[in-house]
Amino acid sequence: MPHSTPIPSRTQVAIIGAGPAGLLLGQLLHCAGIDTLIVERQSAEHVLGRIRAGVIEQTTADALDRAGVGARMHREGLPHDGVELCVDGQRHRIDLVGLTGGKRVVVYGQTEVTRDLMDARAAAKLPTVYEAQEVSIHGFESGKPFVRFRSNGELHDVACDFIAGCDGFHGVCRPSIPASALHTFERVYPFGWLGVLVDAPPVSDELIYVRSPRGFALCSMRSRTRSRYYLQCPLNNKVEQWSDVAFWDELRRRLDPQAAADLVTGPSIEKSIAPLRSFVSEPMRFGKLFLAGDAAHIVPPTGAKGLNLAASDVLLLADAMIEHYDEHSDAGLDHYSAHALARVWKAERFSWWLTSLMHNFPENAGFGERMQEAELAYLMGSRAAQQVLAENYVGLPMDARR
Ligand code: FAD
Ligand code: PHB
Repeated sequence: MPHSTPIPSRTQVAIIGAGPAGLLLGQLLHCAGIDTLIVERQSAEHVLGRIRAGVIEQTTADALDRAGVGARMHREGLPHDGVELCVDGQRHRIDLVGLTGGKRVVVYGQTEVTRDLMDARAAAKLPTVYEAQEVSIHGFESGKPFVRFRSNGELHDVACDFIAGCDGFHGVCRPSIPASALHTFERVYPFGWLGVLVDAPPVSDELIYVRSPRGFALCSMRSRTRSRYYLQCPLNNKVEQWSDVAFWDELRRRLDPQAAADLVTGPSIEKSIAPLRSFVSEPMRFGKLFLAGDAAHIVPPTGAKGLNLAASDVLLLADAMIEHYDEHSDAGLDHYSAHALARVWKAERFSWWLTSLMHNFPENAGFGERMQEAELAYLMGSRAAQQVLAENYVGLPMDARR
C-alpha cells in the first residue's frame, strides 16, 4: 500500500514502474541488501485495479517465495494439474502433471501478486513514488544515470548506479533508447479479447481454452467463487457494445453443451478489451539501462506467459545486479540481454503458436483453416504433441538457452 518514505537523492537501482516486474525486482534486491527507488506514474489503487494475468508458473512461484511474498499465494492460489481444450464442441484434457513429470501451474491473480509485493515493500519502508509526473531518465549511456520526475509539484533528480525499465509497453524507458540502437519485431493480431470478471463459481475446475467457428473463448478463474471469461472480438468493438446478457449468450454459443449448461452467470464486476500483440525489442540493455517485462516484449495472452516472462527477466536481472555488488563482476549484466532474450523468444513462439491454433482468422478461410484443423487433430491424437504443449505451458526451465 502507498506510504510516504522520504524520496532519496541517490539510490543504487532506480526502478521505473510498479507493476509486477518493478515490484518483484525491488523486493529481490532488497532481500540482497541493495537500495532501490520505485517511480510509478499511476496511483497504487489504479495499478491494483487492472485485471490481467491469472496463471503462475513454478519459476514465478519460486521467485515470489524467494522474495518472501509467497505465503498467501500458497494459501489461496489454486494449483492446476491440467487444462482443457474445447475444439468445435468437444473437450480434451491436457494432463500437465502427467505429461511433464509432475509440473503444474497455480491460478493466482496478478492483482494479488501485486498487492503482496506492495504490502511487503510498504512493511520494509522502501521508497515508492506513486502518481509521479513527467518521469524521464538520463545519463544511462554515459555512466552517470539519474531519473527525473515531479511528485506533489516538486521536481526531483535521483542519481543511481542503474536504471531498471519496468514500465510496461507504453512506458518511457524503451523510447528513451536511440531508435538506431534497437531492433524491434512485431505482429499485431486482427482481433482482441473481451474479458469479464464475475462473482460466480467457475464453470469447470480447470481452465478451458475454446476454439469454435464463432471464435476463441477462455474460461478462467480467480478463486472458487470468482471467474474470469474472455471472448475473441473484432478490434473495433467497444466495451459499451457488449451488455452482460450479450456476453453470456455469445460465450454459451462457443462452449460445448455441458459447459454451456453448467455456466453460472452474474453481473460483471469488470469488463475490458485487450488487443493482442507479439512484440520484442532487442537488446534489453543500453548502457546502464536494463529493460524487463512488458517494457521489452509483449506476448498475446493465450499462452499465459506475460507475467511469467516478466518474473524470469527480473530473476536474471536481480542475480546479475547482486553479482555486480557482491562479487564485483559484471558478467551477469553483460549477458543479461542475450540470456533473457533466449527465453523470451521461446515464449513468443509458444504464445504465437497457441494463438494461431485457437483463434478465428477471418482472412484465413480455406487453406489456413484446414491447417488449423489438421494441427488440432494431430494434437488430440498424439501424446508427443501434447507433451510439447504441456512443457511450454507449465514454463520452460530457467536455464533454457539458445
Ligand atoms: P506492467 O504490468 O504493464 O507494469 C508497468 C508499470 O509501469 C505500470 O504500473 C505502469 O503504470 C507503469 N508506467 C508506465 N509508464 C510509466 C512512466 N512513464 N513512469 C512511471 N511508471 C510508468 N500474463 C501471464 O503470465 N499469465 C496470464 O494469464 C496473463 N493474462 C493476461 C490477460 C490479459 C487480458 C492481459 C492484458 C495480459 C495478461 N498477461 C498474462 C500479461 C501480463 O499481465 C503482463 O505481461 C504483465 O503485467 C507485465 O508486467 P510488467 O510489470 O512488465 O508491466
Ligand atoms: C486469466 O485468468 O486472466 C488468464 C488465464 C489464462 C490465459 C490468459 C488469461 O492464457
